[in-house]
Amino acid sequence: MLELADSGKDIRRVERYAMVALPRDTVVDGNIAKPEVVEAALREAWKAMATKTREVALALPAAAVITKKILLPPDASEADIETQVSAEANQMAPFPLDEVSLDYQILGPAPRNPNENEAIIVVSRRERVEERVALAEAVGLRAQIMDVDTFAALTAFEQIAFQLPDNGRNQTVAVVDIGANATHVCVVHDKQLVYQREHALGGYVLTQEIARRYDLSTDEAEDAKRKGLLPDNYESEVLQPFLDAVSLEIGRALQLFFGATSHQSVDHILLAGGCAAIPGLDDVVHSRMQTSTLIANPFAKMALSNQVKARQLAADAPALFVACGLAMRRFDAS
Ligand SMILES: Nc1ncnc2c1ncn2[C@@H]1O[C@H](COP(=O)(O)OP(=O)(O)O)[C@@H](O)[C@H]1O
Ligand SMILES: [Mg+2]
Repeated sequence: MLELADSGKDIRRVERYAMVALPRDTVVDGNIAKPEVVEAALREAWKAMATKTREVALALPAAAVITKKILLPPDASEADIETQVSAEANQMAPFPLDEVSLDYQILGPAPRNPNENEAIIVVSRRERVEERVALAEAVGLRAQIMDVDTFAALTAFEQIAFQLPDNGRNQTVAVVDIGANATHVCVVHDKQLVYQREHALGGYVLTQEIARRYDLSTDEAEDAKRKGLLPDNYESEVLQPFLDAVSLEIGRALQLFFGATSHQSVDHILLAGGCAAIPGLDDVVHSRMQTSTLIANPFAKMALSNQVKARQLAADAPALFVACGLAMRRFDAS
């Protein structure tokens, strides 16, 4: 949970944040398997936040939505658009329209056909939206926005673009978000999302290997991993093979991207997610991929409230990437 405030002159301020780890199997493939566990974690995070703000933006996982870009004639009326959107949504959704949550956004002139407008339609099972809203409400929060995690990552990317040559213009950037159980790869070209895919590799594999090797419980292994309190042979015998596996998977992800699109290279790899904090990951990825590699810090240009410790935030920043994109949304503008 992350709260951002306006600090004037287009500067945002990080007010406060709280992180509570969910046990494995709480959320499986983006589905909330144990709502009561999520509710307890939300309550704990909300309490730690100690804020008056109750309005929240949430996200669905990309796996829970179907998206499609459509072209609209420039003179389409609102009614025309609604008609076209619901006809398309009917085709997209593999279930009845009354079980669907639907939204669309006009993106602007179509890149290949500037005489027409491009719009993106997003559909999801209504239940997926409602269960998340219900969890927020159960702990006293008011869900104002339901975003999609990939789109939120793209919003957070605005805070990274200026760190790239030429503000990211004409650059192709692979955003690699390595979480506990999965790695989400999205590729952004010229600040537009051009590709995304999920890979089944995450930090839990490393935790398990630590637990097995040093005869620890999963919780002890997780703690030791984060604190770096492990025997001398950890780096060479446990960590290095994991970093190699991650690099290999990133290489595979990029090959799939090249195969699926007309792109043949990426200019930068941006590491996000909790695992981006693993010491040395960026160096290994950089040397294996021979590609400029950065660790995502979407707060680099933001002010910090006096409750936020800069050093801790720097360590947590990659894991807060999607949360940052959500907190950047504005309730009044939509
Ligand atoms: N300082 C750290 N060192 C090593 N691994 C870390 C560190 N901080 C978080 N992680 C790992 O990152 C993963 C969680 O990433 P996160 O993006 O928060 O999860 P998810 O998005 O999957 O919920 C876990 O496997 C955790 O062990
Ligand atoms: Mg994450």
